[in-house]
Amino acid sequence: MTTLVIGGAGYIGSHVTRLLADRGQDVVVVDDLSTGFRSRLGEVPLVEIDVTRTGAAEELAGVMRERSVSAVIHFAAHKQVGESVANPEMYWRDNIAGLANVLDGAAQAGVRDIVFSSSAAVYGMPDVDLVQEDLTPEPINPYGASKLVGEWMLKDAERAHGMRTVGLRYFNVAGAGWPELADTLVMNLVPIVLDALDRGDRPKVFGDDYDTPDGTCIRDYVHVLDLAEAHIAALDYLKRDTREHRVFNVGTGTGSSVLDVINAIADATGTEINPEIVERRPGDPAKLVCSTDRIREELSWKSEHTLAEIVQSAVDARRQRD
Ligand code: UFG
Repeated sequence: MTTLVIGGAGYIGSHVTRLLADRGQDVVVVDDLSTGFRSRLGEVPLVEIDVTRTGAAEELAGVMRERSVSAVIHFAAHKQVGESVANPEMYWRDNIAGLANVLDGAAQAGVRDIVFSSSAAVYGMPDVDLVQEDLTPEPINPYGASKLVGEWMLKDAERAHGMRTVGLRYFNVAGAGWPELADTLVMNLVPIVLDALDRGDRPKVFGDDYDTPDGTCIRDYVHVLDLAEAHIAALDYLKRDTREHRVFNVGTGTGSSVLDVINAIADATGTEINPEIVERRPGDPAKLVCSTDRIREELSWKSEHTLAEIVQSAVDARRQRD
């Protein structure tokens, strides 16, 4: 039985692919290599398909049948909040069409188990201490909205085709499990600060007047390797549990401020960092930290890596690349 990883040449997808392959499981990757790299896959077979294209469902069904696929993990999507605000149609068209083709292909091939990359962006700006899955989602940008619609699509596919589906709502993902799988494209806080240091610039902090202990925004940073393990836990869960569509937060349950992250980077790089405080960035919630109760209880998953380890792995990966 083979697991199909769609978007498996990307940052998170390649970590999941590597873990599955290292554990001796059969895995095949579909990717259009628009933002992924073949070099991340080692010996794992790659089929190049753009899942948003007309006819992709049939192509995907063909791959699933040929390779005896029993489960699909779907990563392939656009994932930048700012880009989604500037170009919403691209997010609606590609993220929704891509998932529709994946579900259609799985239905044609009789594949039952689907794991979907969702996001904490579905929650919008929740004013709570810890974000629980049963909070009413109120996305505030097209990226988050496209992920929420994706979760609804999974529910409909369960009803129509007898599938079993899980949506994983990622919090702030960073770090690298292997240097060659490090993220080179997504611009989140950790790589942005490292880039600024490389250029000799002062990293920017978007506002220090939030209602938080040090005034900067708090997020839940999760190591990409821990996140990859959560996908494997989700596959195991789908095999044993009979419950309908389930969503799970994936984070650590611990909040770190922007200044905490910058201090961790200063420690990992052995440099002194003198950040520049600038205006708030529109749309940033003061605090977004994950409640981990559901994933711990139902998937038996918890994060293993600290913020210091996340940052150290990102710094080490960059040193090996340079
Ligand atoms: N920040 C800075 N300076 C920077 C970059 C970021 O101060 O140069 C701050 C942001 O204002 C925010 C925090 O660092 O307070 C984290 O920002 P990121 O852009 O790294 O991450 P976000 O929390 O905005 O968004 C992330 C992912 C999204 C995902 C979202 C889920 O980037 O893809 O989490 O909530 F949807």
